[in-house]
Amino acid sequence: MTTNETETAALAARFPTGFTWGAATSSYQVEGSTGADGRGPSIWDAFVNEPGRVVDGSNGDTAIDSYRSIPEDVATIKALGLNAYRFSLSWPRICPDGSSRVNEAGLAYYSNLVDALLAEGITPWITLYHWDLPQALEDAGGWPVRATAERFGEFAQIAHAALGDRVKHWITVNEPWCSAFLGYASGEHAPGRREPAASIAAAHHLMLGHGLAARAIKAADPEATVSVGLNFYPIHAATDTPVDLDAARRIDGVQNRWFTDAALLGAYPEDIVEDFKAISDFAFVEDGDMEVINAPVDVLSVNYYSRFTVTGNGGATSASAAPTGAGSAWPANEHIGFVSSGLPVTDMGWEIDPGGLTEILTRLHAAYPGVDLAITENGSAFPDKIEDGEIHDPERQEYAQAHLAACADAVAAGVPLVGYFAWSLADNFEWAWGYTKRFGLVYVDFETGERTVKDSGRWYGDLVRRARTNREAE
Ligand code: FCB
Repeated sequence: MTTNETETAALAARFPTGFTWGAATSSYQVEGSTGADGRGPSIWDAFVNEPGRVVDGSNGDTAIDSYRSIPEDVATIKALGLNAYRFSLSWPRICPDGSSRVNEAGLAYYSNLVDALLAEGITPWITLYHWDLPQALEDAGGWPVRATAERFGEFAQIAHAALGDRVKHWITVNEPWCSAFLGYASGEHAPGRREPAASIAAAHHLMLGHGLAARAIKAADPEATVSVGLNFYPIHAATDTPVDLDAARRIDGVQNRWFTDAALLGAYPEDIVEDFKAISDFAFVEDGDMEVINAPVDVLSVNYYSRFTVTGNGGATSASAAPTGAGSAWPANEHIGFVSSGLPVTDMGWEIDPGGLTEILTRLHAAYPGVDLAITENGSAFPDKIEDGEIHDPERQEYAQAHLAACADAVAAGVPLVGYFAWSLADNFEWAWGYTKRFGLVYVDFETGERTVKDSGRWYGDLVRRARTNREAE
């Protein structure tokens, strides 16, 4: 074996039997066919058509055509040797006007995808909401309005009734932080509203939707594995002055505690409630809401990319913000600045901190014992060039290798980590960044749709094969 192969084999051996090895995508980012077979409009269809919202002026009308590529996509997942695939359901493909009127053709697409995956021994992990709200529900007020959460609970029931005989892994909402604060505070994401107070109501209704969906799924199938997908970042204070330490407490509270405490402890963290009271009276929280939100969760889905260093003295805005978002994504915390800590960055400008992933996983396990953890997104954007039919992307491979080693460290420390999904299976539509950022293990020619496995994809496939073979031989 070469040194690289020895290293990969050693890493593979550090993961437990039965580990889930996957890759992830989301509906609007990959499907295309936005007008096909009765799909209704989503907030992203409207948003991308507003000038200046997407840096390259592009949209998801075609994306990478996954709606028409089930056989190719499943073959790619199989060729990589993965045993799981995380994808999301487009709510408006199934409920075109957001009501419980069902578009059977939309459901059929997901049913076919599930069957094709299962036929190859690939376990589907379904995300119910990865940001493509039916436009009709936005027209009625969107996530700041309670009824949206209720409609989401009904949608979960519809989706589960159609697919729950074959699908056992359900993630309710993906990154409600982004939906609430990029969608309704900074306006960087659809629907592009800049209403800080409303964004806090949106965050609550996203969690209420999570609770209603989780309860609906568990009622229909007590054996189902239910999860919520949250994005976590280690937060560092730029200095240890009181003002910077307070900034770190505030950002950490919103990013790492707000949603997790609500879902797993049934209460919002009190210090952050106090901070938000500067702009919200919390009149939208009704009796019983927190109990609904505190629904049983089997797996906490962790999305991890980077870390933040913050100062309470303003300064540079977040490196993660697209140039299109004019407002702040941090309601009641607009005085806080995000500064560089000097670490190397990806093509997103996101600092690379693999140790931070071990930190997050051990912290989550300590704070919320009794729930399994899965990495449902982790990956990096780097500019890729195709040369003689190959994509050499050593930086992406290094990023994956370092973060998987960080996962293995967490496992060694006793964290019940059950799976890892690379973001993303293939290059796709990266929201406000359009097609300018590539996260895939598989390169996509955006003109022709042609797919080519990158070196990082080959490496990941090799790791997964070794991990699965080790275990199967035991
Ligand atoms: C996450 C999103 C995912 C993708 C990655 C890069 O926040 O869930 O859709 O955009 O970032």
